[in-house]
Amino acid sequence: MKIVLLGYMASGKSTIGKQLSKRINLPFIDLDAYIEEQEKKTVSTIFKEEGEVYFRLKEHQYLKELLNKKERFILSLGGGTPCYANNMKLIKENKETVSVYLFTSVRVLVNRILNNKNSRPLVANLEDDELKEFIAKHLFERSYFYEQADEKIIINKKSIEEIVAELHFLPTLNRQ
Ligand code: S3P
Repeated sequence: MKIVLLGYMASGKSTIGKQLSKRINLPFIDLDAYIEEQEKKTVSTIFKEEGEVYFRLKEHQYLKELLNKKERFILSLGGGTPCYANNMKLIKENKETVSVYLFTSVRVLVNRILNNKNSRPLVANLEDDELKEFIAKHLFERSYFYEQADEKIIINKKSIEEIVAELHFLPTLNRQ
C-alpha cells in the first residue's frame, strides 16, 4: 500500500509523513524533495527559472513515476499537486493507494506560512496583510480536489498518536 498525504501548504504533510513513517515503519518520500533531487534545483528556483507550468509538468511526471513503483511508502504531495494535470484522478485510480487529506484551518495556515513565506513561490510576493485573504480563497478553490481523498483528518493541534488513531486503513496495512 502507498499512503498519499495531501493538503494545503504548511498543513503538516511532511512533518506528519515523517512521524508516521517511523511509527508504521514505511519509507517516507516528499514529492517536492524528490523533484528537487531529480531536477537538481530547488522548487523556488524551478518556479523562477522555468515557470510554474514547467513545475506542474514535472510534478505530474514524478508523481506518476512514484505511483508506478512496486514499493510501499508514504508520499507527501505538494499543496498544489492534487489540483493539476488530473493528478487526483491518477491517485484515485491507483488501487494500491490510500489518500489522506490533512485539513488545517486558515488561521493556523496563515501563522505557519508567515514564518517562511519567502521560501514559498506562490506567496513570496504577497504582503503579510494580504496572506489571510489569499489563503482563504485558495484553500476554498483547492478543497474541491482535496475533498476527493479517501480519508480526511482535521489536524489542528492533534498529536501524532491521535492522527494515527484516526487512520482507518492502518489495521489492514500488514496484509497489503
Ligand atoms: C505548492 C506547494 C509547495 C510546492 C510548490 C507549490 C502549491 O509544496 O509544491 O511551492 O501549489 O501549493 P508544500 O505544500 O509542501 O509547501
